[in-house]
Amino acid sequence: MIKTVEWTKEGVRMLDQRLLPNEEKYLMLRSYEEVADAIRKMVVRGAPAIGVSAAMGLALGASQSVGTSVADLEFDFNFMCKVMAATRPTAVNLFWAIERMRGVITKAKAENIRDEEEIKKRLTEEALLIYNEDIEANRAIGLFGGELIADNSTVLTHCNAGALATAGDYGTALGVIRGAIHAGKRVAVIADETRPFLQGARLTAWELAKDNIPVTVITDNMAGHVMKQGKVDCVVVGADRIAANGDTANKIGTYMVAVLAKQHNIPFYVAAPLSTVDLATATGDGIPIEERDAKEVTHVQDYQMTPDGVGVHNFAFDVTPNEFIAAIITDRGVARPPYTESLRTLAAVRLARAR
Ligand code: MRU
Repeated sequence: MIKTVEWTKEGVRMLDQRLLPNEEKYLMLRSYEEVADAIRKMVVRGAPAIGVSAAMGLALGASQSVGTSVADLEFDFNFMCKVMAATRPTAVNLFWAIERMRGVITKAKAENIRDEEEIKKRLTEEALLIYNEDIEANRAIGLFGGELIADNSTVLTHCNAGALATAGDYGTALGVIRGAIHAGKRVAVIADETRPFLQGARLTAWELAKDNIPVTVITDNMAGHVMKQGKVDCVVVGADRIAANGDTANKIGTYMVAVLAKQHNIPFYVAAPLSTVDLATATGDGIPIEERDAKEVTHVQDYQMTPDGVGVHNFAFDVTPNEFIAAIITDRGVARPPYTESLRTLAAVRLARAR
């Protein structure tokens, strides 16, 4: 099983995804600042993996807090949450995980716990719970989503929404593909390379090849052509944030793929755990879109491809309007339009089970 991020006695262990597929190197992060930095620099990336990493980073930071009271610990913890929240703006799993961790302190205070060591222990337990729940959620997504994939199909995916984008194991969009294969279906994958960070070419291709799942890489601008040639049966992508009405933020270029899929009558599915659904944001217009360093666009590795001084846009995500999405596959079932109702219903099921 691919382990993107792991809690150890020494610190948080992370696979450095920037080096894949050429090098499989693990980093040991020994402070919450190092974890935050790893999220910012995309050592770890993918919405669920960012959430799990942030939770572990906070647990690690809390365990190193030298205060002598619950109030000291809470003061340090709140500061760490601010640092963590400033790493990447789009994936809502980051903020969801921070709030889950904050909830541990709130609950302990309500229980009148006065021992800060007890709270530190609970924070570590919560981070591990978030990690384990993510793996379980992806298995469930695979089970629900696998049913939507016909035998002998070719699925096009964009970015990497696989084991590498989650706590490990299955992934979300790739979890759907793994779920279908697990159910005995034959599935091949077309992976968009996903400029500029190349999550498709480097990461999706790497993890599928490792699992012997047939994968063909195309450049992003080939998607329309392969669809027109009848080579794509459906599209499955992950999500960084799904608004209450189903509008979905995902890796830049996803919107383009969705429009092309509609033009060719190809079902376009989004796969994500409910922790990616942001009911507090009504529509995609309210989702913050990260803009990253221009160098990711002007250079490939250290090789410069554009003339000096030209203007550059580097939007990391775009929003696919809900009307392009045939279904949203979650860990609690498949949501169909109208999403404002179906997502709310599934979220209520999740909440009821958590109680
Ligand atoms: O910039 P990244 O690599 O963090 O973007 C990742 C994506 O857009 C994924 O598709 C999304 O997070 C879903 S991952 C299960």
